[in-house]
Amino acid sequence: MNELKHLAIIMDGNGRWAKQRGLNRTKGHERGAEVVREITTYCSNHPEIETLTLYAFSTENWKRPKMEVEFLMKLLGRYLKNELQTYMKNEVRFETIGDLEPFSKSLKNIIAQTKEKTKNNKKLIQILALNYGSQNEIVRAVKRLLDSNQEITEENLGKALDTPYSDVDLLIRTSGEQRLSNFLLWQAAYAEFYFTKTLWPDFTVKELNGIIENFKNRERKFGGI
Ligand code: IPE
Ligand code: IPE
Ligand code: MG
Repeated sequence: MNELKHLAIIMDGNGRWAKQRGLNRTKGHERGAEVVREITTYCSNHPEIETLTLYAFSTENWKRPKMEVEFLMKLLGRYLKNELQTYMKNEVRFETIGDLEPFSKSLKNIIAQTKEKTKNNKKLIQILALNYGSQNEIVRAVKRLLDSNQEITEENLGKALDTPYSDVDLLIRTSGEQRLSNFLLWQAAYAEFYFTKTLWPDFTVKELNGIIENFKNRERKFGGI
């Protein structure tokens, strides 16, 4: 049976969830943040999962209306403040990938503080992908290697990425879209994919359990026979 160490999720469908209910898109993002808590708590208690990477804001998401972008930034700050208790209780270490440079000073501060306060937690690493784009990450990694006069090899490049943690074993995308949208192109080279029609705010621990069961029974070959 396959071991599941690194789970990655493209949390998609918040807007459609809200629209279906005649609500503002922001309500979908709010409900979505609650699902993040439920899924993270579940993963922290899972015997195998060491890393949970969640796509929260892409380098392309700046194209959204200013109001929505601003709301997402506020929600993130609020979420991190509220979640510290949960991170500590469930022994979750908080990390990020992506370029934090364009974020406000106060958001950057909360992010740094949450990383610092949770850095010794051992049950799970929760990585939020923030202003993350895989192509951007790869370019920044290549620049890092050049700047430090290192040879461009698969190993060195892998280590120079924002995620030197591990390759993704299982990648789930909610909402029925079947694309990567610039997420973990390098790290998901051999990931198993699972696409579900469920919108992220409706995603449950029960469904995740079923997906993990499905993953366990797949044959991963890594090029072998
Ligand atoms: C995912 O939900 C959340 C973010 C990208 C921040 P969407 O906001 O993309 O929801 P849909 O795809 O419009 O339904
Ligand atoms: C991907 O979802 C980004 C996140 C989930 C944060 P999008 O909704 O932005 O992706 P596209 O635009 O449908 O590809
Ligand atoms: Mg979407």
